Amino acid sequence: MDFSIKAFNTKNAIAQHKSSCIAVGVYEGGKLSTAAKALDLKGSLTAAVKSGDITGKAGTTLLVHRSSGPAKRVLLVGLGAQDAVSDRNFISAIQSVTRVFSQLGANDALLALPLDGIKGRDAHWALRTQVHALRESVFRADSLKSKKDETQSGVRKVTLLVDAADAATKHTLKQAVAVANGMDFAKTLGNLPPNICTPTYLATSAKQMAREVGLGVEVLDRKQLEALKMGSFLSVTNGSVQPPKFIVLKHMGGKAKDAPVVLVGKGITFDTGGISLKPGGGMDEMKYDMCGAASVLGTMQAVGEMELPLNVIGVIPACENMPSGTATRPGDIVTSMSGQTIEILNTDAEGRLILCDALTYVERFKPACVVDIATLTGACITALGHHNTGLFTRHDEAHDALADELLAAGKYANDTAWRMPIEEAYNEQLKSNFADMANIGGPPAGSITAACFLERYTRKYTWAHLDIAGTAWKSGGAKGSTGRPIPMLTTFLIDRAEG
Ligand code: BES
Ligand code: MN
Ligand code: ZN
Repeated sequence: MDFSIKAFNTKNAIAQHKSSCIAVGVYEGGKLSTAAKALDLKGSLTAAVKSGDITGKAGTTLLVHRSSGPAKRVLLVGLGAQDAVSDRNFISAIQSVTRVFSQLGANDALLALPLDGIKGRDAHWALRTQVHALRESVFRADSLKSKKDETQSGVRKVTLLVDAADAATKHTLKQAVAVANGMDFAKTLGNLPPNICTPTYLATSAKQMAREVGLGVEVLDRKQLEALKMGSFLSVTNGSVQPPKFIVLKHMGGKAKDAPVVLVGKGITFDTGGISLKPGGGMDEMKYDMCGAASVLGTMQAVGEMELPLNVIGVIPACENMPSGTATRPGDIVTSMSGQTIEILNTDAEGRLILCDALTYVERFKPACVVDIATLTGACITALGHHNTGLFTRHDEAHDALADELLAAGKYANDTAWRMPIEEAYNEQLKSNFADMANIGGPPAGSITAACFLERYTRKYTWAHLDIAGTAWKSGGAKGSTGRPIPMLTTFLIDRAEG
């Protein structure tokens, strides 16, 4: 999809703009927005509203065909109450527009919704939100279907109304497109079947992406991981014939001496549970157990494309969790790279086992902070559902500040997280009689004990953990990856670089 921006004024009026379709807003009570008023040729739009076919309720639409004027069609879209359009109403209006655009027998359109007057949001937010909704609506996951879902019709070239086509607005558009590209990359990887998207495939994709956007990349293989003594990570890959990969991506956009932000993503390309085998129903969805890795890849791609003036390093431990005669058993004790020993009581709690070694590895970068992203626990879905990502950090001043940054970024990007506690009391549940810790803490507070486990490997830097088990993909009829939490992560990084 092609985007351009355009500002209108008295000399260059919207009524003179040539387009197959112009989408404009209508407020509750049928009140036309400024752009709609300017297009109300011979009262045609007023008449359409008077007919009662559109009331201005958020997300409703009415397509008006015209015989005269430079715009062939005007799409009226409801924004709700005018005094302060809520961000939810604005998003719902945009989503309705994208639905109509995707069905339209036209290639180009102008999106001219009012960008001011959205409660608590500015024009940059509105621009970014529109780009993301439009890109989401044209995303397809049918690369492996012999007959594609539907013909790729609909609007492909969108002009977006802005207040001023100035440098700041162009910058926002460039960033929004870069983030959308990163999300497409991550969603495509997430949706790929696990027989294609193996650890090797992830490593190859990472190298190709790194070449395209100019990132440094290094992939460590089993021998190097053994030399690093990553006994915990390697124990998870024991049952698989697919070789493990450890991917490191670097974007050094900041000053050489500036401490980097490090992102660590869980890259289990398929999670059967191992010897602690999962039940069969819905097990296909465990192909999404690499969505943390995909979000790191997508974020790194966006960061590279945006040429963000910040040092960012992405690290991905990738392997498969399979049962076999060589697989790790419940009861096995392994030694992590940190030297701490782990009694593996459940081989299905494998995410923390690969992450703990990656979290030790990243100490070498002397990070400004480390954020790990993982589809870590079903318990996080029980706690927060599919709306919020779980956010965990220690509870001190530095960590409260990092948590607040991530929460605010999530709110801005419409990709929210909710903070959960890490406390000594929960740590009791990880006690083992035979090793430094067990890898599970029993049924109560499963997402918290998982975070407590990771916390033991992150004492050398400021750290946050994002459990995306409930937010990384959708099940059911709309099954597919969401690209979350890339909007939150990229906003967080943009704020650090430019804030
Ligand atoms: N990848 C799963 C977590 C998961 C499950 C995410 C379902 C999304 C949907 C993880 O590796 C896992 O299996 N966790 C176990 C931990 C338990 C054995 C302590 C879980 O959540 O059941
Ligand atoms: Mn598991
Ligand atoms: Zn898993």
